[in-house]
Amino acid sequence: MAKRIVSGIQPTGNLHLGNYLGAIARWVKMQDELAEGDRCFFFLADLHAITVYIDPAQLARNTREMAAALIACGIDTDRSVLFNQARVPAHAELCWLLNGTARIGWLNRMTQFKEKSGKNREGASIGLYAYPVLQAADVLVYNATHVPVGEDQKQHLELARDIATKFNTDYKVDLFTLPEPIIGAAAARVMSLRDGTAKMSKSDPSDASRINLTDDIDTIASKVRKAKTDAEPLPETPDALAERPEARNLVAILAAVTGRTSAEVLVEHAGQGFGAFKPVLADALVETFRPIKERLDRLAADPAELDRLLDKGAAKAAEVAAPTLSEAYKALGLQR
Ligand code: TYM
Repeated sequence: MAKRIVSGIQPTGNLHLGNYLGAIARWVKMQDELAEGDRCFFFLADLHAITVYIDPAQLARNTREMAAALIACGIDTDRSVLFNQARVPAHAELCWLLNGTARIGWLNRMTQFKEKSGKNREGASIGLYAYPVLQAADVLVYNATHVPVGEDQKQHLELARDIATKFNTDYKVDLFTLPEPIIGAAAARVMSLRDGTAKMSKSDPSDASRINLTDDIDTIASKVRKAKTDAEPLPETPDALAERPEARNLVAILAAVTGRTSAEVLVEHAGQGFGAFKPVLADALVETFRPIKERLDRLAADPAELDRLLDKGAAKAAEVAAPTLSEAYKALGLQR
C-alpha cells in the first residue's frame, strides 16, 4: 500500500534539537526514501499555536521562519507538500465534525493537556483541551498511514486512531485510515541539557536547556560545556546509564547526530569523563547545524519565494483533503 506520511510542528518559536532529531530529520529521511505513489505532507500547526495566547505579529513571523527552517533542514517542496494549517480550512472543518465523535473521557486522559494547563485547568482555553481532536483531523483528512513524531505525541496519535475507529463504526463507513505513529529509536525523547528528566522544550524558560537551530557556534559550545552531567566516567554499555539521565541523554544525542546507536558511541568513549566527551559532542552538533544554517540564511533573504512555496503547498493540500472532508459530511447526513 502507498504510504501517506503526515506530520506537523507548532510555529511557537525556534526549532530546537529535540524537534530536529525527534521529528524533522526523520521527515527528511522518509521524504528521501519515498517509493512510487507515496506522498508526504508537512505543515506548520499554526491553528494549534493559538491555543495559548501568542502575539499575532509574532505568530506570523514564527510561521514563516519555521517554514524556512524546515526547507533548510531538507524538506523539498517539489517532493513534499509543505504548508501552514490555517491556509487549509479542511483541518478546522473536520475537527468540528470529529468533535461529535471524540469523548470527554478520552481527552481527560491526555497528559500533555495536564502538563500544559498545570494547576490552572479552569483557566485553560477550550482549544488547549480540544487540541488533540484538531491533531486527529490533521492526519485523518489526508488518510495518513505514517506519522513521524517524537515520543510525546504518541498518545495524541492513539486518540486519532480511537476517533477514526469510532467514526467509521458509528456511521458505518470505511472512511478514515488508522494512522501509525512512527517514533524513532535513537532520539524519540531528547531531554533538557539542565535536567535529564525533563523533555527539551520550546516552553522551558531557560534557553540553556536547549540547542536552537539558530544558535551560533560559540553558543552551542557553551551550552554543551555547561550541560548538567555527573562525575562518573562513561560506561561500556547503555544499560549502565539507566540511573544517569543526563549522561544517557548526551550519549543519545551524539548517537543520533552521528547516525549511530548509543552502544556504538560507548564503544568509542567508554572510560572517558565529560571533559573529553563534551567537546566531541559540541563539534558534532556544530557540524550538523552548519549546512542547515547556511541554507536558512539564503532563504531568509527571499521572503517572496517562501510565500510562493507555501501558497503552492496549501493549494495542493486543500485539493487532497477535499474528498475526505466531503465524505465525512456525507456520512454524517450533512447537506452542503
Ligand atoms: P511540537 O511542535 O511540540 O513538536 C514538533 C515535533 O517535535 C517532536 N519533539 C521532540 N522529539 C524528541 N524530543 C523532544 N524533546 C521533542 N520535543 C518535540 C514532537 O514529538 C513533534 O513530533 N501537536 C504537535 C504538532 C502537531 C502534529 C499534528 C504532529 C499538530 N498536528 C499532526 C503530528 C501530526 C506538537 O505540538 O508538536
